[in-house]
Amino acid sequence: MAGSYDKQAAIYLDGRPRYPKEWFSMLAALTPDHSLAWDAGTGNGQAAICVAEHYKQVIATDISEELLKHAIQHPQIQYMHPLSSMSGDELVNLIGGENSIDLVTVATAVHWFDLEKLYPVVKRVLKKPGGVVAAWRYNIMQVSTEMDPLLKKFYEGIEVFLFKTQKCRCSAVNTAKQQGVNLLSEEVKKELESAWGGPELVRTVIYKTYMHLNCTLAVAPKFIIVVIAVHLLFGANMTL
Ligand SMILES: C[S@@+](CC[C@H](N)C(=O)[O-])C[C@H]1O[C@@H](n2cnc3c(N)ncnc32)[C@H](O)[C@@H]1O
Repeated sequence: MAGSYDKQAAIYLDGRPRYPKEWFSMLAALTPDHSLAWDAGTGNGQAAICVAEHYKQVIATDISEELLKHAIQHPQIQYMHPLSSMSGDELVNLIGGENSIDLVTVATAVHWFDLEKLYPVVKRVLKKPGGVVAAWRYNIMQVSTEMDPLLKKFYEGIEVFLFKTQKCRCSAVNTAKQQGVNLLSEEVKKELESAWGGPELVRTVIYKTYMHLNCTLAVAPKFIIVVIAVHLLFGANMTL
């Protein structure tokens, strides 16, 4: 699915929401060291730039070379393009090696990954003890009483498509279009535009966001990492 975002790469930087800075202070307070962080599925570096405020160096990876070409440049961020064919060992070496990373962030991207491949790499690269992995996603955005039911209907259409395609890891609207299903027809666009209140209107958009946080505690015999899952549910509102 490397190409799913490629066509929108140039406008993606403007379109993506940014994250509250407080989250990154909170995450940074959880790790004893602040040397190296990894932002997986970085897109244009929307989370990586905030992580860089707290960690000396940030490795930011994305499967889409096009998005990386438009990434936000920062002296502490090193953008990297892992090949989908890379083995676990190759990924570990690319990112920084075993036991090297203080914080892993996966910002609105974990649903894209093959978790059976991602998690073993995360476990290997995280420092033990004290390494932290944080993954977050948000629900349907909330805009207004006129717009929210239309958004709900639109996302239900996406859910049905994803169900039929067995939860493909894809950009649903683009993939559906390639398969002849137009989830964002002109009619739907017009409905949404009109419910928004016109193109000039500036509105506050709320994204309810949920974060899962895991901390490595210790190195068990034979280097089996004991990872305790501290599932924190933040009812945080991310506002645009
Ligand atoms: C919804 S975007 C989120 C981008 C960014 N983290 C943000 O918060 O704006 C999901 C990102 O995951 C990337 N991605 C998908 N599968 C990936 C994989 N296997 N390895 C690395 N990145 C991946 C996509 O290219 C895309 O940039």
